[in-house]
Amino acid sequence: TSSHQVEGGDINNWSEWEIKNAERLAKRAKTYWQPWQIKKFPEILDPGNYIAGRACDHYRLFENDFKLAKELGHTATRVSIEWSRIEPEEGKFSEAGIEHYKKVVRTIKTLGLEPFVTIWHWPIPLWLAKKGGWENKEAVKMFSRYSEKIVSALGEDVKFWTTINEPEIYSSSSYLGGFWPPQKRNPFSYLLVLRNLVKAHRAVYKSIKKRYPEAMVGIAKNNIHFDAQDKSLISRLRKYASDKWWNFYFLDKIKDYQDFIGLNHYFHNRILRGKVRNENKVVSDMGWELCPEAIYFVLKDLEKYKKPIYITENGLADAEDKNRSWFLVETLKNIKKAIDDGVDVRGYLHWSLLDNFEWDKGFWPRFGLVAVDYKTFARKPRHSAELYKDIILANGMTESVAKKHINCCLNAN
Ligand code: BGC
Repeated sequence: TSSHQVEGGDINNWSEWEIKNAERLAKRAKTYWQPWQIKKFPEILDPGNYIAGRACDHYRLFENDFKLAKELGHTATRVSIEWSRIEPEEGKFSEAGIEHYKKVVRTIKTLGLEPFVTIWHWPIPLWLAKKGGWENKEAVKMFSRYSEKIVSALGEDVKFWTTINEPEIYSSSSYLGGFWPPQKRNPFSYLLVLRNLVKAHRAVYKSIKKRYPEAMVGIAKNNIHFDAQDKSLISRLRKYASDKWWNFYFLDKIKDYQDFIGLNHYFHNRILRGKVRNENKVVSDMGWELCPEAIYFVLKDLEKYKKPIYITENGLADAEDKNRSWFLVETLKNIKKAIDDGVDVRGYLHWSLLDNFEWDKGFWPRFGLVAVDYKTFARKPRHSAELYKDIILANGMTESVAKKHINCCLNAN
């Protein structure tokens, strides 16, 4: 999970932006989404869908949520720290905020789960947004100072740190595509932000390792399988350039400053005559093509960094849970194939434990192994969560697991 998407009640540049943009996003939805999506999820047209508000109320219910993860067989869980709760005013740190995350991490550890802690998963405190956010070169120092607070408070209990979640998705959506706050469309801002994120990661990497040499520090990197379908020069060039820029630029920049690679993987882009042409035979509720074979190629491509790989995100929006079981099993098979071919994959974290607030899309995309009722905040594990549990317990898709779940959706719909 990530803090803003599940906790509820945080005040930062995202929560402000949501209030200002909810009406616009609801109006845009009429043309942005397909008729089948609007029919299936009428809340797409409701401005309330676009305001995180109490989210999953995980800030209050975290203990139950981690207990549930444990009951569902999980052995690790990923959480993020909300910067605005730790440093609500510039340079003034909230003891209550820090205390909360100490409790979060203690609870995870006490349950016997391994915490994977993300220091920054996108929202920034309002005071930093006013100062220009990540475009301001001072942001690197500010981020390092905030990180030091967090690491000194939680360092004894946390081995796995991801400093930054998906720097390329954040910088391109916020500064190039203009979809997310601060909604810029400026290539120079985009490059500047990327550069500052590289610097921020390196600085925090060094400071964590100085204090905790045994810690494992990395980022969560969103990599796509760019799949040239024809041998034309234009397709091969497009694949080469996309790999180089999207998949490897950031990792190359931090290659001497990471102990593991955190892989977030969702997309497969088929390139035909230089253009992305996905078949979309099986899609998620968000219309994203589901291609569980792609993860094999993405993992193979990461082998060159010679670092252990933890899959820090992978999943799908599937409210009816009709494809999740199939997708999970096929994805795990492809990870196994990569491991058998020598790729050093050490772990898999499914996105997500809970349904959650999907940024500018709002609440309707349901990514959870566990369904959340946003009115009562009740949690209900989906069938796929039970299958996943059996796979974890058996450490594989054994015959008996397959038999038990034979009547559930092990095929794509
Ligand atoms: C992000 C998550 C997001 C997920 C599904 C990733 O890009 O890290 O915050 O919910 O994808 O879109």
